[in-house]
Amino acid sequence: MKKLEDYVISIPDFPKPGIIFRDITGILEDADGLKLAIDSLQKELEGLDFDVIAGTESRGFIFGMPLAYNLHKPFVPIRKKGKLPREVVRQSYDLEYGSATIEMHKDALKPGQKVVLVDDLIATGGTIEAAAKLVEQLGGEVVKMLFVMELAGLKGRERLSRYDISSAIVYEGK
Ligand code: PRP
Ligand code: MG
Repeated sequence: MKKLEDYVISIPDFPKPGIIFRDITGILEDADGLKLAIDSLQKELEGLDFDVIAGTESRGFIFGMPLAYNLHKPFVPIRKKGKLPREVVRQSYDLEYGSATIEMHKDALKPGQKVVLVDDLIATGGTIEAAAKLVEQLGGEVVKMLFVMELAGLKGRERLSRYDISSAIVYEGK
C-alpha cells in the first residue's frame, strides 16, 4: 500500500536552483492520495477539544476545509491582504525577499475559542506564526498547528516551540 509521502512529487531546482519543491498536486490528483491525506490529518485531531479550523490561503484551504466539513466545525479562511470584504485584523511577516500580509475577519472568532491552524507546509514557520498572531489578536487560542509536510531543516518547529505542532510527513532537509 502506498504511503502519503509516495504521492508527493519532489521537483529539484524549482523555483530556483538548489530548492526541492514538494508538490502536493500529486496527492490531490489521486483519489486514494487525497483520502489518505485528509484521513491522516484527521487522525491527529482525535480527542482534541477545539472550536474552529482556520486555514491559510491558498494551500491551507485545500486541506483545512475537508477537515472542518468532516468534523462539523466552522472553517475560517485566513487570506492574503485585500481579499476579505469586512473588517479585518492584519499581520505582516517576512519572506525570503520582502514581506507579506495576511488578514482574517474580525468577527471570525470569539474570545476564548480554541483554534486548529492548518496548512500544507511548515518551512520557516513565518506564515503560520503570522496566522497564530491573528487568532491571538482576537482572543483565540491556538491549540494545534497541523501540516501535511514539514521541512525540518528550516527549524519552523523550534521557532514555534510554544505551540503543539503535528506534520504528516517530515523531510529532514530544507
Ligand atoms: C507556502 C506554503 C505555506 C508557506 C510555508 O505558501 O503553502 O503556506 O509557504 O512557508 P513558511 O513556513 O516559510 O512561511 P505560499 O506563500 O507559497 O502561498 P500559497 O499557499 O498560496 O501557494
Ligand atoms: Mg501557503
